[in-house]
Order: sequence, then C-alpha cells, then structure tokens
Amino acid sequence: MSVPNRILVLFAHPALERSRVNRHLIQALKGIDSITIHDLYEQYPNLHIHVKHEQRLLLDHDIIVFQHPFYWYSSPAILKEWQDLVLEHGFAYGHGGTALQGKKFLSVITTGGSQEAYCRQGHNFFTIRELLAPFEQTARLCGMEYLPPFVVQGTHQLHGSEQISKHVNDYHKAIMALRDDTMHWDQLRQQKFLNHNLDQTIRTPETSQHAQ
Ligand SMILES: Cc1cc2nc3c(=O)[nH]c(=O)nc-3n(C[C@H](O)[C@H](O)[C@H](O)COP(=O)(O)O)c2cc1C
Repeated sequence: MSVPNRILVLFAHPALERSRVNRHLIQALKGIDSITIHDLYEQYPNLHIHVKHEQRLLLDHDIIVFQHPFYWYSSPAILKEWQDLVLEHGFAYGHGGTALQGKKFLSVITTGGSQEAYCRQGHNFFTIRELLAPFEQTARLCGMEYLPPFVVQGTHQLHGSEQISKHVNDYHKAIMALRDDTMHWDQLRQQKFLNHNLDQTIRTPETSQHAQ
C-alpha cells in the first residue's frame, strides 16, 4: 500500500455539549492513524490563534478538512478568524505564497435546513454549493483542490441514533478512502456532494484501477 495521505480536521463547534450531530461525526475519527483532529474552540477559547503553529500543521498534512455546523450560511466565528490570520500573504497566496499548493480541501458541514430548503424555490434560495463559494474560492486561491463537500442536512429531523449513525459511518468511510487514496477521483470530481453515491465513488479491491 502506498503512503497514506495525512488529514488535518479543523473542527469548529462553539457549543459541543449541545451538539447532536457533529460530536458523533468527529468521534468517529478519533485515534485513527494519519488523521489529526484539531478542535479550534478547545485549543483557543479566547480566539487567540497561534498562527505559526497552525501554519506548521497545514504544512504537515496533505488534505485539509473544515468540519463545522453551518451558522448563518457560513462557519462559526473562530474559523473565519483562523482564515484571516493563518492564510497569510506570502504563505498561502500571493508572492511566494505556495505552502498549500497541491493539497486537497474538504468542507464537512451540518445544516439545520433540509436539502429541499436549499434551492431557488426553497426557504434558503441558494444551493449549498453556491453558499460555500467563499470556501471554494479560498481553496482555489491557495492552490488547493476543492473536493465536493460532505453535507449532512436537516439535522433537526434526524431522530434516533440510527439516522445519525448512517452519516457517521459514511463520514468514516469517506475519510478513510481519502486517507488511503481509494477514491475514484474522476468520478468524485463530478459530484455535487462527497456523500452522495459514496459506495460508487470508493474503489474496492475488485474495481481497483488507480487513478489520480
Ligand atoms: C447561530 C446559529 C446559526 C445557524 N445558522 C444556520 C444556517 O444558516 N443554516 C442552517 O441550515 N442551519 C443553521 N443553524 C442550525 C445548525 O446548522 C444546526 O443546528 C447544526 O448543524 C446541528 O449540528 P450539531 O448537532 O452538531 O450542533 C444555525 C444554528 C445556530 C445556533
């Protein structure tokens, strides 16, 4: 097997004790080789982000994940602060700013609104992909490949542990496939969301044909 991709999960939830979904999702990744979970609110309760430490973490990983609940059509505040401070000119973009080039970027979000609410006829008018455009373009500007996001929607309608554990299992499966490079990359790149058609997107030993 080739060397696994190192994955950095930047996790942002300001009230983890009240979380129903994200805490299960993040739990599923704990203790896995080559995956670093970095809980930003835990590390920086006063939002005093250590820029050099964050930049070193970025350099040490191949795939960067932002995991958070969708708040006001974006991320909780700490992740914006993180972007403003860590993605410096000369590091992430601009003259000499090549540190992130060639890495992959993934958004993992949970939304209270249902899938149907995110379209022109729906309550939120815009699609999730449209609303995530600032993240997509940030990744592009930094020379990273923006992967289709992993999105769990209608969180208030998820009842019982079974409905949540389906998403937890999918998340674990997707992250392992990214780590072990067992994605059908061409197929994945055409999808709107990473967690739609997940089983068809992941290579099994039988369907194996290495493609980057
Ligand atoms: C401050 C705040 C803002 C929110 N904004 C949105 C939003 O813009 N769109 C949406 O679909 N849900 C929104 N929600 C609902 C959360 O996304 C939802 O509760 C969360 O994803 C559930 O995940 P959790 O159980 O891990 O907290 C918001 C919730 C809060 C507290």
